[in-house]
Amino acid sequence: MVRRSHGSDVSRDAVVAVVEALPREPLEGADEWTPEEALKRVNAMLDSSRIQGYQLLSRDYDVGTAGEYRLSALATILAGMTQAPECAVGPDALLLDIGSGIGRPSFTARLKFGFPRVIGVEIVAPQAAIAQWVADRHGVDGIEFRAGDVKTVGIPPAATHVYAFSQGFPAALVAWLATQLNAHTGWRVLATCHTPKQWDEAGLLFDDDRTITLTGLSMVGSGCRYAMYVLYPPPR
Ligand SMILES: C[S@@+](CC[C@H](N)C(=O)[O-])C[C@H]1O[C@@H](n2cnc3c(N)ncnc32)[C@H](O)[C@@H]1O
Repeated sequence: MVRRSHGSDVSRDAVVAVVEALPREPLEGADEWTPEEALKRVNAMLDSSRIQGYQLLSRDYDVGTAGEYRLSALATILAGMTQAPECAVGPDALLLDIGSGIGRPSFTARLKFGFPRVIGVEIVAPQAAIAQWVADRHGVDGIEFRAGDVKTVGIPPAATHVYAFSQGFPAALVAWLATQLNAHTGWRVLATCHTPKQWDEAGLLFDDDRTITLTGLSMVGSGCRYAMYVLYPPPR
């Protein structure tokens, strides 16, 4: 991981200190919440406007963050990812959220779509720490946030559904993901910002005839709308 120096950036240090001091114990009564109630509380806590200095967290990491999707967009994407019969959420489903940020897509997958297991990987370690803190504090099991570059952390062999809000991912990372997925026999669906043409150029093998395009996915704050593509592996 390449780190940038920002000289005496005390604001960023202050944010990291706050994240490191977050309490770990679950909330009272959290284990009795319905998934809907837990998701409501998780999302209230993850509202980025309430996390002081949230945008500063990525400043020491050489990555673009590009923002977050609104909850309605996340619901559209996850519905798209789970609509094919082999992608319905079953007991062996594992959603991998590459670039999981502060974890909202991961929590939506776990609590609203019922994925039994979700793994988020995020290079900006304080963001992964916030997400894990929220999971621990709300007693959300089956979800885990790993801090680090996905190239180092790796793609879990059991991953079935891969979500990558890949806006801003460098070409080398996309090419690495293509190589990893080509060697991975378990993935059933990939949701991504990169177009099928870009994935083709990166060398990913996928089923050309089945790609779905999701449009009008709106972002928190900016009101920007992106498209995402749902890709399936070639027939095995
Ligand atoms: C567009 S944001 C998506 C945030 C969140 N998943 C969402 O959908 O709201 C992309 C995230 O990918 C992370 N990222 C970029 N390169 C990465 C890498 N090599 N390994 C892990 N995370 C990475 C960034 O730090 C950023 O948080």
